[in-house]
Amino acid sequence: MAIRSVILGVGASAPERIVTNYDLEKLMDTSHDWIIQRTGISERRMVDEGGKWSDFVVPGCLMAMERAGVKAEELDMVIAGTMTADMMMPSGGCTIQSLIGAKNAVAFSLSAACSGFIYGLTVADRFIRTEPDMKILVIGADLISQRLDWEDRSTAILFGDGGGAAVLTGREGERGILSTRMYSDGDLWDLLYVSGGGTLDPAFNEASIKPHAIKMKGNELFKVAVKSMGQACLNALEEAGVKAEDIDLVVPHQANLRIINKVISRLGLDMEKVIINVDKYGNTSAGTIPLALNDAYEAGRIKEGDLVLMPVFGGGLTWGATLLRW
Ligand SMILES: CC(C)(COP(=O)(O)OP(=O)(O)OC[C@H]1O[C@@H](n2cnc3c(N)ncnc32)[C@H](O)[C@@H]1OP(=O)(O)O)[C@@H](O)C(=O)NCCC(=O)NCCS
Repeated sequence: MAIRSVILGVGASAPERIVTNYDLEKLMDTSHDWIIQRTGISERRMVDEGGKWSDFVVPGCLMAMERAGVKAEELDMVIAGTMTADMMMPSGGCTIQSLIGAKNAVAFSLSAACSGFIYGLTVADRFIRTEPDMKILVIGADLISQRLDWEDRSTAILFGDGGGAAVLTGREGERGILSTRMYSDGDLWDLLYVSGGGTLDPAFNEASIKPHAIKMKGNELFKVAVKSMGQACLNALEEAGVKAEDIDLVVPHQANLRIINKVISRLGLDMEKVIINVDKYGNTSAGTIPLALNDAYEAGRIKEGDLVLMPVFGGGLTWGATLLRW
């Protein structure tokens, strides 16, 4: 029987401060009705001034580890899917390794924007297939509120802070990751990017937020997101020999409710099978899938044996999909 990578436990967390659409109306020329109609977002969480990425990431990791019954010193690897860790160096993976006490793990960050969690699951899966005893903590979390230009209403309304983690190991049997695919197209980088803070335009050159804020061609990105997430889902299903109608639950990247609707209708599925929490959190980048998976778990919407599909899309451009039996 095949060895597969099984999620032993999932957890998530987000800062406590809630920023509603009505709060944003006071900051810029927008309205609750416009934001709801175009995106499905009602509110998002944001760190307080001085708040750090690791402040809300650690509780989600500890929750996942407790549910998995795995202690920090038992972890062999920590993969942090993020682009907004506390520092440029050390990596977010090493920061979390230290804060949770995973002293026997190798730790690193993986930069794939919103796709960080699904990329992380894919990398973890490849390690576990060769070393099934490995216990790996995969994190997806971002602090995007510091990357927003409050003068750009087309991006500032979309994002929030939050994320979560999953603990994986190898198990013989039907459960676990059946297929997991990741894709990228660097030619399309300028549909979604942050130019400042790299070596081309170092942070110490800048007195303004502008180069460090997210820039986006929303209309074009929308179409690419629908097409590529839909295709990634079909490829993941084909690789596993599974039909779309057999899916029990879809836990998609939460960027925009209209994007999710279109991907789901391409798959010919019913929205009742889809976990939606973009209304509560907005787009938390690499954090959306673990936050939604955790919501599904806590609401009792995932049963053992369920087929779960998790498509993602983000800056890079990057995209992918993981299909697993829970
Ligand atoms: C950003 C997004 C919500 C904009 O929705 P849209 O339907 O494409 O809207 P448009 O950009 O065509 O803009 C329509 C109008 O709304 C206006 N508008 C933009 N943001 C607004 C806001 N926050 N409030 C009110 N009006 C706004 C525009 O200025 C434009 O006005 P105009 O017609 O007078 O020129 C949508 O394109 C989107 O979600 N794209 C994908 C973004 C994404 O998922 N990014 C992350 C990927 S991981």
